[in-house]
Amino acid sequence: MSEINEKRKVAIVTGAGQGLGLEIAKKFLSEEMKVVFVDVNQQLLNEVKNSADLQPYLSNSKFLQVDVSDVAAIKHSVNEILREWFRIDILVNNAGVRKETSIEDMTEEEWNKILSVNLGGTFFYSQAVLATMKSQKSGRIINISSYGGQAGPLSSGAHYCASKAGQLVLTKTFARSLASQGITVNAVAPAAIETPEMKNIDTNKLAKMKDSIPVQRFGREEEVAGIVSYLASDAAGYITGSTFDINGGLLMR
Ligand SMILES: NC(=O)c1ccc[n+]([C@@H]2O[C@H](COP(=O)([O-])OP(=O)(O)OC[C@H]3O[C@@H](n4cnc5c(N)ncnc54)[C@H](O)[C@@H]3O)[C@@H](O)[C@H]2O)c1
Repeated sequence: MSEINEKRKVAIVTGAGQGLGLEIAKKFLSEEMKVVFVDVNQQLLNEVKNSADLQPYLSNSKFLQVDVSDVAAIKHSVNEILREWFRIDILVNNAGVRKETSIEDMTEEEWNKILSVNLGGTFFYSQAVLATMKSQKSGRIINISSYGGQAGPLSSGAHYCASKAGQLVLTKTFARSLASQGITVNAVAPAAIETPEMKNIDTNKLAKMKDSIPVQRFGREEEVAGIVSYLASDAAGYITGSTFDINGGLLMR
């Protein structure tokens, strides 16, 4: 079978060097997709590529160092994917940076950085894959937002929460615009999932956070990957513009 007729779906996962992005990317590989691991951190990409878990899947994996706040780099990556794999079926906008800066200490530089990665990256990666998804008359975009974008800070700053709230409205904006063209756009809003990033949170704060979660534990990466996998599937074709909470009951709405 020539590459161009290959039936495997092609998924791009941003921030796939560790944490939720890595778990989502591995889930897609286990579902027989081709997966593009996008991350700004080349060392993390190398570690993933060399890990035992990935060895059976290397022919279905591509590793691209991309800073999602760099629009030219995003466009370049999409062209590279299309040149080799011809299609793009799924985009997961997962790359994100969290900072716990107070309102008083916020600098313009830090504000711009967080907004351009978390929100700009989501907008411009989605924009970059649209022409391809429209020509295929199908596609799935899934934005990894946060409880912080719904309820305000748990362990983050105003910039992070604003970027995550922005992702929720981008989800609806893209969903409305693309609904009639076979493309769905949804968001997942996690809170307190155990990823490497959690090591940056003060241990006393973590203990208090855990006590406040109704299910009395932190979330697991595979629990988030499970929702993303469902939203990426053909079975979820009637769901668009929605936000799926995964927060142990911290926010019930
Ligand atoms: N872990 C949680 O509890 C939680 C809760 C709510 C929301 N989220 C969201 O889920 C996503 C993943 O979180 P995580 O906990 O796995 O984080 P993480 O820090 O463990 O992983 C994030 C990945 O994104 C990459 N990245 C950072 N900046 C980038 C850039 N400019 N371009 C490309 N890649 C970049 C990092 O190198 C890293 O590999 C984030 O968007 C985060 O805001 C996580």
